Amino acid sequence: MDQIQSLQRPVKGTPMSLDQAMELAISEAYQGGPKVSPNPLVGSVVLDSEGRFLAAGHHEFYGGPHAEVNALKNLSNEDLKGAHVIVTLEPCAHEGKTPSCAKMIAKLPVKRVTFGLIDPNPLVAGQGAEILRKAGIEADVYESSDLKIDQEMRIRLEEVCEAFLWNFRHKKTFVALKMASSLDGQVALKSGESQWITGSESREYVHYLRSCYDGLLVGKGTIEFDNPSLNIRHPKIQKDNKVIVVDGEADLLYKFSQLKLSEVHGTENIFWCVAEDLKEEVEKKVKELPKAPRLVFVKTNVGGDLNLEDLLAQLYTQGLRSVLVEGGALTASSFVQKGLVNRIYMFQAPIIMGSGGSKSWTETVRIQEMKDKIFIQHPRYLTFGGDFMITGRIL
Ligand SMILES: NC(=O)c1ccc[n+]([C@@H]2O[C@H](COP(=O)([O-])OP(=O)(O)OC[C@H]3O[C@@H](n4cnc5c(N)ncnc54)[C@H](OP(=O)(O)O)[C@@H]3O)[C@@H](O)[C@H]2O)c1
Repeated sequence: MDQIQSLQRPVKGTPMSLDQAMELAISEAYQGGPKVSPNPLVGSVVLDSEGRFLAAGHHEFYGGPHAEVNALKNLSNEDLKGAHVIVTLEPCAHEGKTPSCAKMIAKLPVKRVTFGLIDPNPLVAGQGAEILRKAGIEADVYESSDLKIDQEMRIRLEEVCEAFLWNFRHKKTFVALKMASSLDGQVALKSGESQWITGSESREYVHYLRSCYDGLLVGKGTIEFDNPSLNIRHPKIQKDNKVIVVDGEADLLYKFSQLKLSEVHGTENIFWCVAEDLKEEVEKKVKELPKAPRLVFVKTNVGGDLNLEDLLAQLYTQGLRSVLVEGGALTASSFVQKGLVNRIYMFQAPIIMGSGGSKSWTETVRIQEMKDKIFIQHPRYLTFGGDFMITGRIL
């Protein structure tokens, strides 16, 4: 999930190629970032019978009208005679919180629909296209005549709704890892001090990123050192978010009321992960606390650390379809080591913190041979003020 610089919509009547229209549809889709989960981000563009721009739209919020409906809503049947609807994901076939988009388009004088991806939802998969074809509308998966553009666009079409695709394909929570490091890969000094490594521009972008995930996950050490608020502070976004804390031994749980987290968030929005073996004891002690977060009891590995696969499975059943792991060093390292990170956002500042005792975000990751190195797939590079950010997929 990433905010590619939004493309400007062209003036009505501007000729557009299919590639340009799909690129704009992807850019439109990203605008739904903070509000659509667990639905996918979807964007749509409508061209007239001569291939000129008519309108664009995106899925704005969960339960709200789909992208095609928003793109088509101000156009008349006259405008739509012979029109071409471009959409990043196959129009839905089923009636859910909103009516079927495929059935809606089938009633319009549209000539052609091009969609970026077949919807993996078995209630849709290919059926949306079938409804359109039965109504005499050409309905095809996007294909560019330029091989290079075609490959790049396919990557971006998957990327724009990657959490949704991961959820559907694997029935698992999508995990993104965001860290801020020095040029030499350190995320905190030996003392625990880490504020601030990156500049204000990077930090504002992080607040946008936070809004795009269902929950923010941190380890106990980060709560202890930083006492963070872990809320969303962005000039254009207002959203209550969920926080997940990994505290296997429940050390900090009993100090919950003294933490900033407890002032900033409702207790129903905080998930505290502790070892399953401590269930009885923890449940008893928590009853005596003035206020307490939601408890998630997690299986442990042989060494006693929490089993992160089980932790994620439990978050999935609680409805958290995507999480942004925000550290600290050991927590980030555990997720990488276990091969659980789907996407990484690594912000690097032009500073050196030295490795003599500083904390690295891959402390526990052991790679013996270069053939086993971890690749960041489809990397993209952005700059924020003086900082540099690399993002890409691992899983
Ligand atoms: N630069 C950045 O982007 C960034 C971001 C966040 C934090 N930080 C800095 O990072 C430092 C904190 O890092 P840290 O490594 O000390 O602490 P941390 O990663 O925040 O928390 C580590 C603790 O979390 C628990 N934990 C993590 N994984 C676990 C697992 N699989 N099972 C059970 N428990 C698990 C453990 O608690 P137990 O020991 O009780 O088992 C572990 O000691 C702070 O200085 C903070 O300022 C930097």
